[in-house]
Amino acid sequence: MKHSVFAAASAVAIMASGMAMAEPQAEVLHWWTSGGEAKSVAVLQNEFAENGGTWTDMPVAGGGGDAAMTALRARVLSGNAPTAVQLKGPAIQEWYEEGVLADISAVANAEGWADVLPASIAGHMMCEGVWCAAPVNVHRIDWIWGNADVLAANGIEMPTTWDEFNAAADKLMAAGIIPLAHGGQAWQDATVFEAVALGILGPQNFKKAFVDLDMDVLKSDGMVAVFDQMRKMRGYVDANFSGRDWNLATAMVMNGEAAFQIMGDWAKGEFLAAGKVPGKDFLCLSTPGDGFLYNVDSFAMFEVDGDDKQAGQALLSKLIVGKNFQKVFNLNKGSIPARVDVALDEFDSCAHTSSADMNASSEGGSLLPSYAHGMALRGAQSGAITDVVTAHFNSDMSSQDAVNQLADAVANSM
Ligand code: BGC
Repeated sequence: MKHSVFAAASAVAIMASGMAMAEPQAEVLHWWTSGGEAKSVAVLQNEFAENGGTWTDMPVAGGGGDAAMTALRARVLSGNAPTAVQLKGPAIQEWYEEGVLADISAVANAEGWADVLPASIAGHMMCEGVWCAAPVNVHRIDWIWGNADVLAANGIEMPTTWDEFNAAADKLMAAGIIPLAHGGQAWQDATVFEAVALGILGPQNFKKAFVDLDMDVLKSDGMVAVFDQMRKMRGYVDANFSGRDWNLATAMVMNGEAAFQIMGDWAKGEFLAAGKVPGKDFLCLSTPGDGFLYNVDSFAMFEVDGDDKQAGQALLSKLIVGKNFQKVFNLNKGSIPARVDVALDEFDSCAHTSSADMNASSEGGSLLPSYAHGMALRGAQSGAITDVVTAHFNSDMSSQDAVNQLADAVANSM
């Protein structure tokens, strides 16, 4: 295995000379193509250009990044990896183990990342003791978004228990409103599923099931109850849900066609990009139950030849963790900064809730990685779980059969 790309000395020399020698270049693979996402990634493109960089955009549409990851594998296999790639969770370590990721420790050390990133986030950015990715943000998954007018008109509060959610949904259905805006794509099914699972199992058993893959919890009555609630959710989506993109589901909440969406806070980026105001036009609340499911977007640099590209990797890494970028990007993206020293004054109430809940859950041991967004498990294992979740959602499979299949799928993936 070879992890030589930018040797500490050359990267520091490039930075020290203000990139005078090489003109930074980067081909950047990402899946940020919705309105709010595009506005966010433009912040990085602009900062890169302002610092003399030339950005070649490689967007691969598809929420959750499955299509982007397929495109990445094809590029790496053909020996032509992009310079920088949106990558996160254990996939970072998986790629590092394949010997294709660059060590960005020179930049990380020069910029003092260890002092400004929480240990929990920094841990995801390390491979065999070196820095191998740069974190952009913290997205929260377990959010429910509501249309304020629709809820008020129907005398409904944001639900704080799953029973309240079901009662609200039944009332909305009777009033001819779609209770839950949803797109039938595997990663969206998984997103709803893990929010339901966190609420019903509780943080400790969620961790046992989806981080530790503990068979007792995977096969438990609690897991049966999770699938029971998923069956109810299936009844609350409209007939045209199959294949719908997540941002179109968000638009259904915006325009009052649907009342709720369960989605990570990139949905807030979408509301904000459309000029909607939190607390007035739309409401945010964590989904019923305790805990916090986090999803940290990050970029990894692939081993490439050429001073220009390596200068591009050093510059990008530096900008991504830069204080100003972390503020402006996250104001657009709906997430909160990964850095601990960015003031949140300009952020909205949902972001303040996210930050306070993240700190409280970190202290209380209920800050948990999202399995649905690739933060908790290796690809084979999260894929095995999601296959069962989706098969259950799209059929009349019983909850007990789903639990049996879940346990088998997980056992076979190990
Ligand atoms: C990413 C977000 C992105 C969302 C929808 C998530 O997995 O972390 O940055 O906005 O997918 O594409």
